[in-house]
Amino acid sequence: ESSRGLTFVRQSHPRPVDANERTRLLENPGFGRVFTDHMVTIRYNEADGWHDARVEPRAPFQMDASSAVLHYAQEIFEGMKAYRLADGGTALFRPEANARRFRSSARRMAMAELPEELFLDSIRELVRADIDWIPTIPGGSLYLRPFMIASEVFLGVKPSSEYLYAVIASSVGAYFKGGAPAVTLWVSEEYTRAAPGGTGAAKCGGNYATSLVAQAEAIRQGCDQVLFLDAAERRWIEELGGMNIFFVFDDGSLATPPLTGTILPGITRDSIITMARDMGLTVREEPYAIDQCRADAESGRLREAFACGTAAVVAPIGQMKMRSGDFMIGSGGPGQTTQRMLAALTNIQRGNAPDPHGWLDRL
Ligand code: PLP
Ligand code: COI
Repeated sequence: ESSRGLTFVRQSHPRPVDANERTRLLENPGFGRVFTDHMVTIRYNEADGWHDARVEPRAPFQMDASSAVLHYAQEIFEGMKAYRLADGGTALFRPEANARRFRSSARRMAMAELPEELFLDSIRELVRADIDWIPTIPGGSLYLRPFMIASEVFLGVKPSSEYLYAVIASSVGAYFKGGAPAVTLWVSEEYTRAAPGGTGAAKCGGNYATSLVAQAEAIRQGCDQVLFLDAAERRWIEELGGMNIFFVFDDGSLATPPLTGTILPGITRDSIITMARDMGLTVREEPYAIDQCRADAESGRLREAFACGTAAVVAPIGQMKMRSGDFMIGSGGPGQTTQRMLAALTNIQRGNAPDPHGWLDRL
């Protein structure tokens, strides 16, 4: 396969994980712990552009201790999944949207932009090489993690002139451990995630680094995830550490925070907006204040809330905790609209329902 004249050199792993061991690992992979045999790497420098595309055995990188990424965090990534379909085929879900977002993240981080065709080819190459690593358990998938790091050996603060792009793959099950009917959110009133003009809309590692202290606080408070408010007023609901958020009201309408540059433009978010409108539901992209959310939960106007993202899929939110006290949303368990959106999304992703928008990309 070639893209803009670039051919992938394919090197199979000389000692892949034994088939029986792989089967055992795929029975209960969890999230982000089980890795496949191969990885993709592509290099960039100013003289050669994108070059040296490889599918090779997954192995540690060799890098100089002065590599720019290790000092100034010039790094971006994506998250997407390959699914086993009902008919036995394999597909990606809206991968061109990930390719586009990867380029826009690169622009924000002053990094070289990987051509979208090359991004898509790199994903397909890795899925083909490691296709036996897609779990067959319900809810299982192959999580793909494309990422790019600034690899120039230089301590001056400026955009790197060299980059390493790579894709690794992880066999995954559910992101949240089963058991609880819904997740609980800790409303972060001290730490924020992204300020206007900042990197909130980019998928850069730095956004996640700054979220960890708040996520750790959430765990200490007995919650599953942190909910961030806007940085200017600490009032408007933005998103979770790694997911977007939706609300469902008593009139059947949905609402989600607008894309004003401080939240990640989630592909699951966009898909849910589209599917809900296809169902005839009203979806508003509008600011929602945390005090209004509490008032609406207490009055019963707010019936359901759910988180969504590639890793989390659609996860019901049962409760919010904050300094001024906790409140429950709806019954505290998964609501009807939440379950309907989860089913609609996963039925398309698994090839169990028509795909009117052409979101599935078969391998
Ligand atoms: N918001 C953040 C901060 C995320 O990390 C993610 C996950 O990628 C999302 C939202 C959801 O985005 P997507 O639906 O494209 O996976
Ligand atoms: C994803 O959903 O792909 C993410 O990057 C979020 C993270 C919580 C794994």
